[in-house]
This record gives sequence, C-alpha cells and structure tokens, in this order.
Amino acid sequence: MPSQVNSACEVACAEDLTYPPPPSLQGDAHVPDFNTYKDLYRKSIQNPQEFWMDVASEFYWKTPPSGKLFDYNFDLTKGKIFVEFMKGAKTNVCYNVLDRNVMEKNLGDKTAFFWEGNAPTDSSVISYGHLLKEVCKFANILRKLGVKKGDRVAIYLPMIPELVYAMLACARIGAIHSIVFAGFSSESLCERILDSQCAALITADGVFRGEKLINLKQIADEAMERCKEKAQLVVKNCIVVKHLNGRLNNQHKAKLQTAWNPDVDSWLDELMVEASEECEPEWMDAEDPLFILYTSGSTGKPKGVVHTVAGYLLYTALTFKYVFDYHDDDVYWSTADIGWITGHSYITYGPLANGATSVMFEGIPTYPHVGRFWEIIEKYKVTTFYTAPTAIRLLMKYGDQAIQKYDLNSLKILGTVGEPINSEAWLWYYNVIGNRRCPIVDTFWQTETGGHVLTPLPAATPLKPGSATFPFFGVVPAVLNEQGVELEGEAEGYLVFKQPWPSIMRTLYGNHDRYENTYFNKFPGFYVAGDGCRRDKDGYIWITGRIDDMLNVSGHLLSTAEVESALTEHPAVAEAAVVSRPHQVKGECIYCFVILKDGKKFTELITQELKKQVREKIGPIATPDFIQNAPGLPKTRSGKIMRRVLRQIARNEKDLGDVSTLADPNIVEVLFSQRCEAAA
Ligand code: WT7
Repeated sequence: MPSQVNSACEVACAEDLTYPPPPSLQGDAHVPDFNTYKDLYRKSIQNPQEFWMDVASEFYWKTPPSGKLFDYNFDLTKGKIFVEFMKGAKTNVCYNVLDRNVMEKNLGDKTAFFWEGNAPTDSSVISYGHLLKEVCKFANILRKLGVKKGDRVAIYLPMIPELVYAMLACARIGAIHSIVFAGFSSESLCERILDSQCAALITADGVFRGEKLINLKQIADEAMERCKEKAQLVVKNCIVVKHLNGRLNNQHKAKLQTAWNPDVDSWLDELMVEASEECEPEWMDAEDPLFILYTSGSTGKPKGVVHTVAGYLLYTALTFKYVFDYHDDDVYWSTADIGWITGHSYITYGPLANGATSVMFEGIPTYPHVGRFWEIIEKYKVTTFYTAPTAIRLLMKYGDQAIQKYDLNSLKILGTVGEPINSEAWLWYYNVIGNRRCPIVDTFWQTETGGHVLTPLPAATPLKPGSATFPFFGVVPAVLNEQGVELEGEAEGYLVFKQPWPSIMRTLYGNHDRYENTYFNKFPGFYVAGDGCRRDKDGYIWITGRIDDMLNVSGHLLSTAEVESALTEHPAVAEAAVVSRPHQVKGECIYCFVILKDGKKFTELITQELKKQVREKIGPIATPDFIQNAPGLPKTRSGKIMRRVLRQIARNEKDLGDVSTLADPNIVEVLFSQRCEAAA
C-alpha cells in the first residue's frame, strides 16, 4: 500500500518548500546555524592554511605539516594537472584511526562496529581495541608474505569485519588497497587486478545475500586464472577468510567445493593464530597513495581513481563530523557497501577517524523481511542513518505498516547519496522514517571527490527537498555554460569546481593523461564533475544528472560503452547501443538496442543469453532491463550514434528535437514501432 502521509500538495510543491533545521539539534551542534556555516565557509576559502592546520592538529604526525599546504595546477593550458596537499608531512592513516583512538583517547573499549550479519541471528561487536589488534595481526601477515609499501593489494570481500581489517592492514604497511565490490564478476575483478598489477588478493570462501549463496573463492579463482591467461600475471598470494563456517546447511555444503592451490592460497584464520599483535606502522608521505578505487568511465574501461594519505584522512574525518553532526554517543549506520566509495569514506575512514560507533550490515534490505532496516535501527538505537534513494524508493513500496512496528525514535539525522532524490521519496523519508523531526542531508559527491562536496549541514542549512544545497568547507563550485563562461545567480549548466579540496583524486592509476582529459580538458582551469546542475534564486544547487554517456542504476555509475561491449561480444550481435530509461526503484535502468548479424534471428533465447552475458561480464548490477531488436540505429552522417534519439525512443517520448543531422530518418519510426514495453 502506498504511503498516505505525503499529501498530494506536499509532493507537488515540494521543490518550493523549505524545511528549517530542528531547534532540538541546534543546541549542541558543531555548526548550529546558517550564519556559522557561512563564517566557517568564508574562513575555509579565504584562509585555507589556518583552516586545515586546525583540522590537522587533531591528528598524529610523525613529521607535522609545515609551509604552504596546497600546491596545484587545474589549468591544462599551463601544464600538467596536479594537486598536492601537505606534501612532506608524514603520518599513517591506520595509526590515526586506531592507535590514536585507543592510546591517546582511551577508546579501546568503545564499540567501533556493531556487525549485523545477513541472518538476524548473526552478529558481533568489535571494539576499537580489538580492531587494532586484528589489524596489526593482518598487517604482519601481509608483511610476512612480502607485501611492501606501494604494492597493490586487491580485496574482494563481502561486508564482514575482515574487510575493514584488510583495508586498514594495507594502510598500516603502506600497501595500496584496491577493493573490488564483491558483486562484480570474475572478469571485472581480473581487469582491475591487471590494471594495477596487484601482488595479492584477499577474498572469502563465500557469502549469503539473502538466501543466495555466492561462492566468492570460485569467482576469485576464475579471476586469477584469467589474469594468467590474459597477461601472464600470477597473483602470488590469495588470502581466504573462512566466513561460511557454521553458516552452511548440508545442502549448501554439498554445493560448495572450495578449490585450493596450496602454493597460492592460505586461510586467514590459520595465519592469524601465529601473527603478532604489534606492528609498527609505515610512516607515509602525505601525498603517498592510500588506495585505488575503480569507477566506470565513459570509454568502458574502468578508471583507477587514486586517493592519497593526508588529504583523504582530513577531509573524510571533517565531513563525517560536520555533515552528520557527529557526537560521542551517536550510533551511525551507512547501508553502503565498502566496495564503493561511500563505504570507504563513511564506513571505514571517516567514522573511525572520529572514534565513532557504526553499524556494519552484511545483508540486504528485504531479507528476511522488508522491515529489516527498521528492525536494525531499533536494535542498535541508530541515531544517524545514511542510505541511497533507490533503497528508499524500494522500501516505500511496501507501505508504512512495515515501519510502524518499530521504534525509530533514536533517529536524529538522515542522509542520502548516489543520485538525485525525487521529492516523493524525500518526503516519505522525512515524514515516515524521520517522523518530521530529522533533517535529511542530501550529499552530492563522487568516487573522485573522496568526500561530500555539496551538502547541507543538519543543524544549519534550511533544506529544499531534492537539492544538495551548498558547498562544504574548502569547496568552490561554479556553473558554466557550453562555452565555458561562468554563470552567476540563477543559472543552469555544467557543474565544475574551481580549486582543489584535500580529498580530490590525484590521478588515475597508471594513466595520468586520461585523468587530465576526462576531468580537466573541457574547461581549462576547472575540475568537471560530469553532472549538470541548476542554481536557484536562493543559491541552492540542484543536481540535474549526468551529462556524459553514463547510467546511474541504483546509485551506481555504469558506462553505456561498458554494457555495449559486453553485448557485442555475443556471437550473434553486430552492434549495440545502450541508453538509460527511468525506473521506479532503480532511478535509471538499462535499455539496449541490438543489431543482430545477418542471418541471426532475434528470439527470447537470445534475449536471455544477452542478459546473462552482461551479468557475467560486468556483474548483476548491469543486467539489462530491456533489449530491443533493432534493424538499424539512428546515426549522424559521420556515423555517430544519436543517443539522445534512442533515449526518447526508450522513454516513448515523441519529441525528438533537431534530427536534421540523421543519416536515415526513417529508422526512428521503425524503432518506435518495435519498442519494448515490458522488461525483458
Ligand atoms: C555520481 C558519482 C558518491 C558516492 C556514490 C556514487 C551521482 C551522487 C548524488 C546526489 C545527485 C548524485 C552524480 C555523481 N550522485 N550523489 N546527492 N545527488 N546525484 O559515487 O559512483 O562515483 O557516482 O553519482 O551523478 O557524479 P559514484
């Protein structure tokens, strides 16, 4: 049953409504009102040196930062693009998020994570003290296996504590972690291992997602095999977490055969028994890489976004503190997976840097029932809840009864991330989940930005449903028109940033040219986000969505080229073009046009094969919703596919705009007449 709480009027006028911060939050908030935000913002821009040195003073430095903090060039016409922050200072991120909390702040007994398993009966509590010990042991294991500072380590793990141990162990010894979301296919994993030439791989025997058992070790084996075949890369060490122990019934046991190569594979628990709990951290330069995280690129080849030590630590720590107005007794929960940037910044590094207590959830929102999220909020008395619009839209469908059973009064602040939130979902989140008491921080950012760049502050910013509002400290956005002219006041155009903030990406791993071309080539002097935006009369920024060939499915970016190349690898396919189509829950879904080779017949079987193909090549998140048989594609005379036209066909929108450059205008009618109405 749909929600009864949002009145039709409220939904219709939502974008004109303003929601002031609740006075109850303002009393002891870090930024208690809008004027304080403006003052701090001004300081962060006018005197970044002092602003960031204040932040730095909270952390431990082997060699403290000194001299000029930022050095950078954003203008390709003047030379190479680079960003440096606190270069020459020395520290260690793991030391700062663990040892500093345990030794200096006495938080050894404080809970770092309430781990909640896929099954509601499966949970554990991890203190800061315990976390530090486990991380040190893991770090010693990696060192013993020969992993050194600067080596890349691939991590392919589900949402289990060992994922946090593994990433922080890398950070401790200066190895660069490259976490691959455990929903990616073996081919995607292989591609990422190869791109950054990983020395080791950390995975698990398997994991349950809902009732489904996923054999991660088998996928990891296939990926390693593929690495050998494709590029003679031999992964020397594969460390395997024994996660399924005690979680399998006999039927599962029969199905799950973990292949074992004793030269490469080792069980983590066996190595841990012998490992020492003491491990001297590697002291890193502020500008040494901390991790690589791959994100989709419009050419189809994923981009290895590189983040560095000090800027990333300071920025994720500060955004976590201010955007979620963090206080010591809060219980924070982000439902993201650590395999994405949200989990890196706002499950691991940001919360731990603040000594926060978080929930870490292995499962899915609908298992074993659709009230699971609300049950977990009640169980742990969550105060701060951060999720994606797609999850909100999904849970909204089940009506308000699924929620009324649970006590959600612990909640103080709600957040969203990943895609623009529609006003209906915003209002439902605000009215039903937050009971009109909790501000919603709609945080706009990217894998590339490392942390929130446009966001409300919960006690300071009057909210407008669907707007990411204003820049965070140190961030200077601008709106440009097609000619690159900066637009003032009310305007719509390209969202760009005029200067670096500490956690902006430094390069794409092994491909600095691509970094420069993708983000800095279009408008010299600006970082181009790839999103369009609108600034309203009150200065609020509204993200209008991607302006490149990217799809945003359930808050995850995919490139059309990536899906197209998976489709064209099928022997029957001659050509493919992929566009997005609006979807009630996922935000956008994938609509494919395929041209079959001569003599091939379009059948239900081919549709199913193509879907499977994409799932296997990329992963389940990329599964196409619609596959349309296309005798031809709308192309310009120079042969460029007019995706704009295909998007309109997928949406059944007849208004095509200017099609005078089409080589064969007739194809449009044909494609309209053969549209897919129902999902494949
Ligand atoms: C793209 C970045 C940042 C973590 C999750 C996604 C879209 C992200 C918002 C928001 C409107 C948003 C943008 C952005 N996006 N947050 N609050 N409002 N759009 O990380 O995979 O790097 O994707 O997600 O299009 O460019 P990502």
